[in-house]
Amino acid sequence: MLNIPIREFEPNSAIDDAAALEQFQKQWPTYQKLVDADALSHHAVGKILHDTLTATFAEPFAFLDIACGDASQVAQALAGTKVRHYHGVDLSKPALELAAKNLAGAAYEVELDHRDFVEALTRRPEPAGAAWCSLSIHHLQTDGKLRLLEAIGASTSSFLMIYEPTLAEGETRDGYLARFRRVNRPAWTMLTAEEWGEIDHHVTSCDLPETAATWLDLGRKAGFAQARELFLDPTGFYGLYRYEC
Ligand SMILES: C[S@@+](CC[C@H](N)C(=O)[O-])C[C@H]1O[C@@H](n2cnc3c(N)ncnc32)[C@H](O)[C@@H]1O
Repeated sequence: MLNIPIREFEPNSAIDDAAALEQFQKQWPTYQKLVDADALSHHAVGKILHDTLTATFAEPFAFLDIACGDASQVAQALAGTKVRHYHGVDLSKPALELAAKNLAGAAYEVELDHRDFVEALTRRPEPAGAAWCSLSIHHLQTDGKLRLLEAIGASTSSFLMIYEPTLAEGETRDGYLARFRRVNRPAWTMLTAEEWGEIDHHVTSCDLPETAATWLDLGRKAGFAQARELFLDPTGFYGLYRYEC
């Protein structure tokens, strides 16, 4: 089996979402249960990503996966596309070790960086053709999201897609949290009471969703030429957005 090395980087500054990250590292098995049950609609967004990459790139391209986690869903989305080079960035070493396993034997080059995505993006030498970020930048404050989108725009030549928690129009964060509990507590029967408690704590203390209008506006302010919503998952909690360079 091909051994994919994980490159280590020393952080130069405090990480903006350190608390979210710490919680997340402890909760990977719980998150994995949600992914396995497709409770977050990874299959649907993976198919849209696959179809978009196939339609956009007739020639080999480089793909940037921001906060790649274990890369399991993206590995499926990339299969059969013209991807030549995959660059995954994540701060969780255990997740990257899983990513190395999930991408071993891939038909494209793989680079995995153990690094804060804000730092990785502001110091990226070569632009990628397409950038992707799923369920990760919503821990940043709104101005931090903007700065990250600006950095991604400067590092990407064709488009960025993000899949992120989304407030209903006019909904407050408290309203979102109440809706999250009302809808997901009875639906996520795959979680034990303790696991639900972990997720509830994480969402309550770390998640900063935006309305679809704000997600799109942030992309335009960051300099992307166009921004549009491609998909809202059936529960209405997660939106997929595409930004053209
Ligand atoms: C909910 S998971 C999403 C993983 C994957 N993108 C997916 O959709 O399944 C969030 C990921 O973001 C990573 N993460 C959070 N903050 C980060 C940061 N500042 N820099 C790099 N990765 C970060 C976590 O380690 C975790 O792997």
